[in-house]
Amino acid sequence: MKLLLVFLVSLFVIGIFCEDKASSWNEYKRLHNKDYNEKLDAGKQENVRKAIFFQRDAKIKVHNSRKFSFRLGHNEFSDRTDKELAVLLGIKSPPSPKLQKSMTVFPKRQTRLPDILNYRHSYCLPPIKRQGSCGSCWAFTAITPLEFDRCRKKRSYSILSEQQLVDCDTNSTNYGCQGGWYVTAWSYIQAVNGSATGFCYPYEGTRNTCKFCPECKSMVGAKVSSFGYVQSKNATAMQLALQEYGPLATAMAVVGSFYYYTDGVYDDEACDNLPVNHGVVIVGYGRFNDTIDHWVVRNTWGTTWGDQGYILIQRGVNKCSIETYPAFVVSL
Ligand SMILES: *[C@@H]1O[C@H](CO)[C@@H](O)[C@H](O)[C@H]1NC(C)=O
Ligand SMILES: *[C@@H]1O[C@H](CO)[C@@H](O)[C@H](O)[C@H]1NC(C)=O
Ligand SMILES: *[C@@H]1O[C@H](CO)[C@@H](O)[C@H](O)[C@H]1NC(C)=O
Repeated sequence: MKLLLVFLVSLFVIGIFCEDKASSWNEYKRLHNKDYNEKLDAGKQENVRKAIFFQRDAKIKVHNSRKFSFRLGHNEFSDRTDKELAVLLGIKSPPSPKLQKSMTVFPKRQTRLPDILNYRHSYCLPPIKRQGSCGSCWAFTAITPLEFDRCRKKRSYSILSEQQLVDCDTNSTNYGCQGGWYVTAWSYIQAVNGSATGFCYPYEGTRNTCKFCPECKSMVGAKVSSFGYVQSKNATAMQLALQEYGPLATAMAVVGSFYYYTDGVYDDEACDNLPVNHGVVIVGYGRFNDTIDHWVVRNTWGTTWGDQGYILIQRGVNKCSIETYPAFVVSL
């Protein structure tokens, strides 16, 4: 009798536990419009996705139960394999200086810095974009600062083409969806005298044949006048460059927690001193809660990632190597 009772109680407990798991999985699927179909989903079965989701879920719960300055949460990437997550990046390694034309290094002069500078809500910054399953972050990282500078100069909103870079930039450092480097992308734009408008040359997310026509004046939305690096590992120089040039292109090291960031200042130690693997744009800086200095960083994974597509990353300590390769571009 006693045994039967224990048996029934444990059945009940298991039942509740399983139901809880199943309901969080169903809730996840519903919230993120997940519809698993083996044919469409690269041969994955729902139970493979479910297992990945619960692995991530355990890590997120452990992280959030401890005292960190940033929090994690689920998003559309919670059920993705590590391989699928890696496709969302797209920086290989920085090209040797030989492959990059000699270029100016900022800063040249000093000005007073405001405590806060943030272009996130600027008219000249387009809505957050989405690179999709294509390692083209380098193209987005090159285009956003150019769009901003072009808009600021012309006082009219400007959308330029990442797809042109993915298709046409055959620079020895740039490989379409297989990764590239934002600084050499600017030298490509300079060499062909133009960056196409996003309207004429919209994003497809796969590498296709080049459709850019340098003679077609109506296709060109901006040109590159000059570009260069900001002094490496110097946050003050980066702040000055942000003030003078607008958003800065940079590269950083992405590790697991980055995919599930929701809020707070990102300061994961796991990414320190790692080689860069992802291109992002720094659009501002500030001080969180009067205590932690941070950069305002813009990603290209849609608005459902991070804080509406943005993340705050600790400033002044080369967190995730983000202060190693900052660069600016000037439009023509
Ligand atoms: C770019 O412009 C320069 C100067 O106008 C010209 O000499 C060059 O041929 C142009 N390049 C291309 C690819 O159109
Ligand atoms: C960093 O940049 C600032 C601003 O230009 C400059 O004053 C300072 O000397 C630089 N620091 C180093 C270590 O070069
Ligand atoms: C912000 O600062 C207050 C007071 O210093 C502190 O109690 C609070 O936990 C901080 N919030 C975060 C998110 O760090």
